[in-house]
Order: sequence, then C-alpha cells, then structure tokens
Amino acid sequence: MPEADMEGTCFQEKVATPASGFFLKGSNSLDWGMKNRLGRIFNPASGRTVMLAIDHGYFQGSISGLERVDVSIMPFAHLADTLMLTRGVLRSVVPPEYPRATVLRASGGPSVLKELSNERIAMDMEDALRLNACALAVQVYVGAEFETQTIHNMTRLVDAGMRYGMPILAVTAVGRDMARSPRYFRLACRICAELGAQFVKTYYVPKGFDSITAGCPVPIVMAGGKKIPEIDALTMAYRAVQEGASGVDMGRNIFQADAPAAMIKAVGKVVHEMMEPTHALELYNDLKREEGK
Ligand code: R5P
Repeated sequence: MPEADMEGTCFQEKVATPASGFFLKGSNSLDWGMKNRLGRIFNPASGRTVMLAIDHGYFQGSISGLERVDVSIMPFAHLADTLMLTRGVLRSVVPPEYPRATVLRASGGPSVLKELSNERIAMDMEDALRLNACALAVQVYVGAEFETQTIHNMTRLVDAGMRYGMPILAVTAVGRDMARSPRYFRLACRICAELGAQFVKTYYVPKGFDSITAGCPVPIVMAGGKKIPEIDALTMAYRAVQEGASGVDMGRNIFQADAPAAMIKAVGKVVHEMMEPTHALELYNDLKREEGK
C-alpha cells in the first residue's frame, strides 16, 4: 500500500480566491469544455478573434484563391486565431500539427447551382469530436425558402453540442432576394442566439451595426464578403469591432489579397489592438513590399 503523503500546509488563507467569470459575452453559464473551446477561438487577452474562412468549396467548389489550399493557404494559416473549413479539407490538407483552433462546416447540401437554403446537417458530432474541432458552423437562412429547415439544423446541432461541449456558430446567410438591412440582421442574429447558438456570424452594415451587436446576447463575428479594396476591408473590420463585434471571420478579403499573409497580420492588428485602418494599410503595404510583392 502506498505511504500516505503529508498533508499540505500552504493554504494561503489571506489570498482571496477570485470569483471566476468568463471573458466572453453571454457565455458565463456554459460548461467548462465549451468555454475552453471558445477560449481557443477567441483570444482571452483581447476578447476577440481573427477567423480565416476557407470553407467556400462546400457549395462553390474551387473558387479563386482556394484552388490549392496546401500551396496558397497553409503557409500563412497559422497567422489566424482560428481556421474555418470543411472536414474534407482538414483531413486531406491540414497537417495534424496545425497549432490553431478550427471551426468545421457542419451544414451543406445544395451547390451554388441550386436553392442554397435547402441545407441539411452535413456532419455528426462524433466526427467533430474525433477531429478535435473547437466549434461547428451552420448556415441559418432567415426569410428564405427553407428557413425552418435551416433553423432546425441549427437547433439540432445546438442540442448535440450541449451534450458534448461543442459550441455552435450560426452563420446568418442572406438569401438571394433578401435586403441586407440592420433590421434583417437584428432579426436573424437574435433568432440564432435565442435558439441557442453560442456565437453568430453576420455581415457588417454601415448604419446600425451597433444595434445588431447590442441586441444579440452572444458574441458576433463579422463576415467578410466579396473582395473589396484592402483599405475598405480594414475599415469595415475596424468599425465592426468598434461597434461591438467580437472579431471577424474573413475569407476572400484575406486570401484574394495580393499579399494574404500581410493582410491577415494587418487585420489582426485592427481586431486585437484597434489599429486605425490607415495605419493598418501602411503596415500591409510595408509587409507586402518585404515579401517582394
Ligand atoms: C459563408 O456563408 C461561408 O462560411 C463562406 O464560405 C465564408 O465564410 C465566406 O467568407 P468570405 O465572405 O469572407 O469570403
């Protein structure tokens, strides 16, 4: 029988134990595993994240910049806080030594040739755990033809996620005929949060974005959208975090930039350090020159 150890005496009775809160908005009542995963997606020091979205192929195939993820994305993917992608690309291209958090695409079905809102759940929670994902992403098409189906996809994933400690990212997908108004995004984000999503991805709108983040009780990450000039993308990211976003989830505005590594560094300065867009653009141009581009 092992000998009993001596009882410790260093209880530091005069050092108060701090009441523990959690740094992310609306997340304090979640369980430890879920918080730990969120704490890998969002940087606890700034409370924000730079997610690099490369999951476009799940409905669009090999778009410009993503033809060869191994050649064009992996060399700078470690500069993101989190990589958002499909399990297919994760298994086939991303080395298991990849050091950052991953968010896996868990809905899909229609290609870009069909009605996009007709999505189903496209991955089991068991596989997400096997792949050590930090969250699963699901499209929610409020107002579109298959609105109820996509919301049901989300609530089923939320239930499964609650069982295993897996956060769910609801992506407010805008159907082809929907207006991108603050009122629409307030509605869509709020529905996602009310029905249990742990964080929400939505688009920036120039007026009223702060009312969208204020009205959503969980963190919002700003979606990037189609490629725009670098200064505009940096300005949009700056305004989004100023107006309450907990970070960005950008794809084309990073990997379709002339210098993607420089761009993600500049976006990181904006998101985590609130660097002003003009300074971030100077940084981007300096880094681009150093890369010889
Ligand atoms: C959004 O619906 C999908 O997740 C996209 O594949 C991706 O997030 C879009 O990123 P971005 O619009 O910044 O290229």
